[in-house]
Amino acid sequence: MCGIVGYAGSVHAACGRPLEVCLNGLGRLEYRGYDSTGVALAAPGMEKVEVRKKAGRLKNLLADIEKSPLPDATVGIGHTRWATNGEPTDLNAHPHQSRDGKVAIIHNGIIENASQLRLDLQTEGYTFVSATDTEVAAKLIGKAAQEIIDAEGAPDIFKATRRVARMLKGAFTILVVDSRQPDLVVGVRHDSPLVVGLGDGENFLGSDVAAFVAYTKEALELGQDQAVCISADSVIVTDFMGEPVPEPRRYTVDWDASAADKGGWESYMDKEIHEDPASVSDTLLGRYDDKGHLDLDEVHIDADVFRQIDKIIVVACGTASYAGLVAKYAIEHWVRIPVEVELAHEFRYRDPILTSRTLVVAISQSGETMDTLMALRHAREQGSRVLAICNTQGSTIPRESDAVLYTHAGPEVAVASTKAFLAQIVAAYLLGLYLAQVKGTMYRDEIHQTIDSLKAMPSKIQWVLDTQSEKVQETAARMIDARSFLFLGRHVGYPVAMEGALKLKEIAYTFTEGFAAGELKHGPIALVEPGEPVVVIVPSPRGRDVLHSKVISAIEEVKARGAFTIAVAEEGDEDAGRYADVVFRRPQCPTLMSPLVDVVPLQLFALDMAQLKGLDVDKPRNLAKSVTVE
Ligand code: F6R
Repeated sequence: MCGIVGYAGSVHAACGRPLEVCLNGLGRLEYRGYDSTGVALAAPGMEKVEVRKKAGRLKNLLADIEKSPLPDATVGIGHTRWATNGEPTDLNAHPHQSRDGKVAIIHNGIIENASQLRLDLQTEGYTFVSATDTEVAAKLIGKAAQEIIDAEGAPDIFKATRRVARMLKGAFTILVVDSRQPDLVVGVRHDSPLVVGLGDGENFLGSDVAAFVAYTKEALELGQDQAVCISADSVIVTDFMGEPVPEPRRYTVDWDASAADKGGWESYMDKEIHEDPASVSDTLLGRYDDKGHLDLDEVHIDADVFRQIDKIIVVACGTASYAGLVAKYAIEHWVRIPVEVELAHEFRYRDPILTSRTLVVAISQSGETMDTLMALRHAREQGSRVLAICNTQGSTIPRESDAVLYTHAGPEVAVASTKAFLAQIVAAYLLGLYLAQVKGTMYRDEIHQTIDSLKAMPSKIQWVLDTQSEKVQETAARMIDARSFLFLGRHVGYPVAMEGALKLKEIAYTFTEGFAAGELKHGPIALVEPGEPVVVIVPSPRGRDVLHSKVISAIEEVKARGAFTIAVAEEGDEDAGRYADVVFRRPQCPTLMSPLVDVVPLQLFALDMAQLKGLDVDKPRNLAKSVTVE
């Protein structure tokens, strides 16, 4: 939540680059929040930091800057906000300034002791123009900077920021610029992300690499409770006391800026749904040999340790938790150990039964979800190993886990998660197959066949995209006035139903409920009235006959009460064709692979419904891409 970018260039050449970098970064970070945007610039000779900010989307700020251009600068910071503290107004937008206007800061997170700190400052005569916790930090840093000048005769904004970081409670990443040190940008982080981009004669800071990937792919990871000071040609990393951090980890970002562009698609979500096939194939790439032997050396957990694992607990939120639920069916079947799937925020406040033989799997696209991060810390404190399944290099969740299996979905910009869901299922399946391999619970041939089935999925997903999109769009147009939808499925179709329901509610603002088809008669059927749309994920008629006929019965039951039924069913499933009003088809595939195709028409359906309603599909109201606060 909240996007942050910082830039330090040559102090000898004030120019438009700091502003350009900040605005470009904000454009790429807008998915992290879009309640307001703002920038602050400094250059030698400026009495105060130059700040410009506007409520609403980045375009409002751009229009304002065009009307009244900003001066050249040497350093800059930029912020796009997801409001947690104070309404989304011009005044509450970041940056916020010190009392003398010489310091400006931007902030991501929540400062929990802000009320007390505000009262303390008020008793000293400070006044506040906004309702934010960030302004409290700005006033404190300005005050500390002045005290350091008074005591030591020279400004030291790095020291002042670290001093204030030690006073703050809660979660924060803060970037600071000071007109008296116009060659520096300072950052501190606690329970909130911050990465450094290493340029040539310039350096960058960002809440994630999207902030600067258009300029450099070389990055440095910052750890918990670390502070950083960048100039054009130096990067200093310390702890909050100022002790140097030996060799922070350096890495190269493995995607480029164009991967995060729309590339001709109307929306990021549309583009990302069409990247579903690549998301699956790229996540599989390089993880098995041609004999079907899995190679997951990259996770750096000894095979002996994996052999000892006797329980898995998946912790995740939202879409990622549904990916975990799909994987539960597969891993329990393949490995014969229990797999629990728990919402991270529930797990964290429980007293879960964990041992050193429990593997906790934290699934997260962003790698920054605070609830999931807290859950993994909770698990590690109790001696369990944590493996992260994550899409974002250098993010906090993999860094704090014992091991990581990266999904290779590429950058996901639309707030609603689509291609990452498929990649998460594939990565969790790879983990399950690897466990089966080391524990010997599957024959080598079976593993080989399962990998072959996974390898066949990208072309099946493509088939759905190529052949079903039109029907999905027509159905969305027919359903445009529907006020609610029910989604139901069984077995692996159950989490797919919940994911389909989540997609529709979050971007088309339609009330939806996803549930296990077997629950129908235990309550939800009371909601069915004439015309109520019910979306049903139908299992394959081959193999698991019982489940197929039970789901078909569910269609009949809701239809008998006047429901309008939309089935997602296999090619050639005549029962589905006979009973459902509309059928979105999937190609034949093994049951455990079916979520990878069944979810695709549901993603498209949500997209079409939202577009037909004229909504902003990439930036649904009230949401942000990375939920970095609890
Ligand atoms: C839904 C969605 C969210 C995320 C959830 C976890 O479309 O995007 O439900 O799946 O907030 O986010 P990550 O995977 O970043 O931890």
